[in-house]
Amino acid sequence: MSPAMPPDRDRILILDYGSQYTQLIARSIRELGVYCEIVAPEIDTDDIKTFAPNGVVLSGGPASVNDEDTPPIPIEILDGRYPVLGVCYGMQALALHLGGGVETAEEREYGPARLTLSSQSVLLDGLEEITNGVDDPLQVWMSHGDRVSELPPGFVTIATSPNAPHAAIAHPERRIFGLQFHPEVTHSVNGREIWRRFLFEICLCQSHWNASNIVDQMVENIRGKVGNDRVLLGLSGGVDSAVVAALLHRAIGEQLICVFVDNGLLRKDEQKDVQAMFADHLGVNVLAINAQDQFLGALSGVSDPEEKRRIIGRVFIDVFQEAAGNVGRVDWLAQGTIYPDVIESAGIASGKAKVIKSHHNVGGLPEHLDLNLLEPIRNLFKDEVRQIGLELGLARSVVFRHPFPGPGLGVRVLGEVRREYIEIVREADAIFLEELRQAQLYDSVSQAFAVFLPVKSVGVVGDNRAYEYVIALRAVETVDFMTADWKRLPAELLTTVASRIINEVRGVSRVTYDISAKPPATIEWE
Ligand code: XMP
Repeated sequence: MSPAMPPDRDRILILDYGSQYTQLIARSIRELGVYCEIVAPEIDTDDIKTFAPNGVVLSGGPASVNDEDTPPIPIEILDGRYPVLGVCYGMQALALHLGGGVETAEEREYGPARLTLSSQSVLLDGLEEITNGVDDPLQVWMSHGDRVSELPPGFVTIATSPNAPHAAIAHPERRIFGLQFHPEVTHSVNGREIWRRFLFEICLCQSHWNASNIVDQMVENIRGKVGNDRVLLGLSGGVDSAVVAALLHRAIGEQLICVFVDNGLLRKDEQKDVQAMFADHLGVNVLAINAQDQFLGALSGVSDPEEKRRIIGRVFIDVFQEAAGNVGRVDWLAQGTIYPDVIESAGIASGKAKVIKSHHNVGGLPEHLDLNLLEPIRNLFKDEVRQIGLELGLARSVVFRHPFPGPGLGVRVLGEVRREYIEIVREADAIFLEELRQAQLYDSVSQAFAVFLPVKSVGVVGDNRAYEYVIALRAVETVDFMTADWKRLPAELLTTVASRIINEVRGVSRVTYDISAKPPATIEWE
């Protein structure tokens, strides 16, 4: 596993032993303005040298260091050149490797614990003074079964906790540190300060990783790579492809050709908004294709959700390929792949961290087109993608837009997709989002939308009984979209939305609000 091409500034290498928190380590480091990459512990020596990190972090992981076949520690990282910080499993692996002892505790410790500082260290000294308005600045988050029982030679214990006699250890001369707890988890009150000290006081990094530098560096990389070639990009209206479009436009201007496919399953005004933003405002070449009939025709009579997804994916490829054939010579296909997709699909943590359900954005294109793949934001986390989007001049409403599934309203009309149903759900959805924005609640919700239920329910319209369709509203709060809770929206807001939908959208006589959590329900209804 070799790291991607690093930037020419300070950087940290993270060896991933499979903890569910590894991405949080990377984000903690990047939020402090230092670039880092996550790699498998099996990384080649040469790749470490090429990457030339300022320091190395060993993540936590679910294995026990006393098991057989534990993942390796690349010994080069211990040759004195790099400061090293082991977290949880990473600490235990270091301790064992360097001649200490690790025992399996009778019970796993999971939850908050309080540190007692025991000897001086750059990493932890004076943390008790940094209260940030909290009661207990030395509170940390533990999640471990094993613990260090005997220090390796030359190490000192710099903190203890009730359950861990060596909660933090250090070899100050060799600049090797181990933490039994997880500073990357927000429940570790001074976790950020600990990362700050590791990066700036121990690894002597400088903070360069910010939106404006990222953009400059990416623009330069893209120009170097693409030269005078032409690049094709499928623009979906989502954040990632929007940022890629703006970035490529800045880097190569007219050499970028965007294709926007109207599949008939888009949200209200989506095409108009994309056109206004990219073509009119930024001056990007956008080829808009109306393929509504093709998609809706292919979906006719199909009600199985997975079959609908397959059809939408297949027709998209056909339409996109045809468009690609009509734009003259192109050499590259750009995609909005981002870092979490890379980490998950490279399987760096797979088999160790929990398997995560991933969705392909528009899926499957590169194999069908004989083009080089350009993925300019593949090293960025979502929050970084948003930051550079703002830096590139994209509107906040685009950059902070809720995610929208690739198959669009196709999976928000339950069962068979008909044009009439799509029109109903599109209008209802627009009303819901408009009211949410109006109430200034859009940003406090992770995703909100309307779903069309193809069942009829009785209602009274005027003096007559009407027998019409049902709309369900869904609004969720989530951090990672793997689990989600329904949003407690104010009753007055829901009342307004329901009454507007019933009054303004023909064919709807009832509105319900979905109060299921994920799991067991999913966010989408199909
Ligand atoms: P679920 O419904 O699985 O959704 O809880 C989790 C997140 O994934 C989105 N989603 C999709 N995105 N293609 C996509 O590009 C799909 O087929 C798809 N299905 C669900 C969903 O909107 C939510 O953000």
